[in-house]
Amino acid sequence: MPKAELHLHIEGTLEPELALDLARRNGVQLPWNGLDELRAQYRFENLQSFLNLYYQLMAVLRTADDFRDLMLAYLERAHADGVRHAEIFFDPQVHLDNGLDFDMVMAGLLEGLAIGEERYGISGGLILSIVRDKPVESARSMIDLAEHRAGDLIGVGLDSAEVGYPPSLFEECFAHARAMGLHCVAHAGEEGPADYVTQALDLLHAERIDHGIHAIDSPEVTARLAREGIALTVCPLSNRRLQVVDDLRELPIRRFLDQGVAVTVNSDDPAYFGGYIGANYQALADIGFGADELAGFAENSIKHSFAAEERKRQLL
Ligand code: HPA
Ligand code: ZN
Repeated sequence: MPKAELHLHIEGTLEPELALDLARRNGVQLPWNGLDELRAQYRFENLQSFLNLYYQLMAVLRTADDFRDLMLAYLERAHADGVRHAEIFFDPQVHLDNGLDFDMVMAGLLEGLAIGEERYGISGGLILSIVRDKPVESARSMIDLAEHRAGDLIGVGLDSAEVGYPPSLFEECFAHARAMGLHCVAHAGEEGPADYVTQALDLLHAERIDHGIHAIDSPEVTARLAREGIALTVCPLSNRRLQVVDDLRELPIRRFLDQGVAVTVNSDDPAYFGGYIGANYQALADIGFGADELAGFAENSIKHSFAAEERKRQLL
């Protein structure tokens, strides 16, 4: 089934084995001795407990080759799961805080994407993601830094700890990104309320909502998503591992479908949540979604991607 992956953080594909290899290669000290000790850290109560490990492990990424290798490892797995197009988040503010150069990070990721396109036929690109629990000034200066690379980016996004960091804080940053010609998406309604989804639409002009699960708490917001054709990039295994739901059957996917909201299926941070995109589709099959419904999610992913119309026609 040809599909697009629309919600994937490249740093979230850093498998523990690769993290330890890179730590060794780059002389970065990690607080854990060996793979078993590191693996024991992958139990999460909520989004924040995951983010703590995710940001800590990002310190092993130091060179353009590291970013290229990370991208290629992801694209190899995505290809095996039938991904033909991928729109991939990265968190530049964290890499800048780690002392890395913005253009170096971009160079590594773009080299990986170019090799992946040639090797696997996967199209796609990068979405600059704002880390919303860092100071707004940090987001602003990162966007300024990215301006001369706007042609190498497809969009801007908003991620990290959600509650207490509403989309409204980033209205100006997104306006600047839009003026740079970037598409806009935002994580909203993962742990935060339906009102954050409304803010992402009204203030950030988000064209897709990442997660969006709590939109279901508001009939008005759900109806609006359907009416305006705004797709949700749902990540089932992520929602379960971060305890957004206790059981996948609690995900409101069927209610969204019944109300005409376009749902797509994605892996978010597959190295942390127990599976790549194929495993996320499989998890939905396991709780009773049929082949036609899964094919509908895949079709939605292509339709709601930012691929050129000609590419979409090729993939549909
Ligand atoms: N939510 C918020 N921030 C993130 C996520 C997520 O699922 N993954 C990586 N950063
Ligand atoms: Zn995410």
